[in-house]
Amino acid sequence: MFIATVSPRSTGKSTIMAWLLHALHDRGYPVTGFDADESKQLYRWWEARPEGSYPFELHLLPSTRFHDEAPRLLPDGHIGGVDCGHLENHAGIGWSVLRIADLVIVACAATNGDIERMEELPMDHFIDQVIPKRADKTRPETWVLLCRVQPSSIRQPKGIRKGLVEDGWNVFTTEIPAIQIYASTGEGVPIKAAGTAFDELVTEMEKRGLITK
Ligand SMILES: Nc1ncnc2c1ncn2[C@@H]1O[C@H](COP(=O)(O)OP(=O)(O)OP(=O)(O)O)[C@@H](O)[C@H]1O
Ligand SMILES: [Mg+2]
Repeated sequence: MFIATVSPRSTGKSTIMAWLLHALHDRGYPVTGFDADESKQLYRWWEARPEGSYPFELHLLPSTRFHDEAPRLLPDGHIGGVDCGHLENHAGIGWSVLRIADLVIVACAATNGDIERMEELPMDHFIDQVIPKRADKTRPETWVLLCRVQPSSIRQPKGIRKGLVEDGWNVFTTEIPAIQIYASTGEGVPIKAAGTAFDELVTEMEKRGLITK
């Protein structure tokens, strides 16, 4: 299966995918990473990985033929974790990824500005347009992940969550806090996902039946 992180603009997609791949791997899921963003950020992190981190293959595939090429690179039984470029500027690749994504994670920073950008794209229509091109002719399973949530703020993320749910979005209960350890993700920086919000996210995905071994 393929899990993809998407968003209209920079929100935290690459950071989420780097950590999620580790969290899934630590929990016993075989994973393969895919960087579908021309900025090659996730690929550069993987290339400069320190010993013990990024213990999986990762392919650079920023292509509008992603839907054609990526399945051939995904070993049987693996979860392919795909990092997309922001959809406002990389629509073609985004659509290609969405054609084969089984689970779409909309990375949304818990700010009004990010909600506005989701409305302006608009994100739900962007995803729906790909339905006729998908093998199953249905919308991929789509969940919003609130990220960069200020640990001390409760009211604003709650309001943002409520608005998203009222607009028909599925929203993960797990939220990714804005903390230095995630902000520091980069070349040569080790990742230890055990016990983090990403470990919690894997548990939530399992409970919701979104991933299975
Ligand atoms: N949970 C977090 N806590 C603190 N900082 C974060 C968190 N997630 C991401 N960041 C920071 O926010 C910025 C954007 O993150 P990231 O590069 O992952 O976003 P992106 O959506 O992949 O952007 P782009 O669309 O440009 O590729 C980076 O500076 C990153 O370090
Ligand atoms: Mg990125």
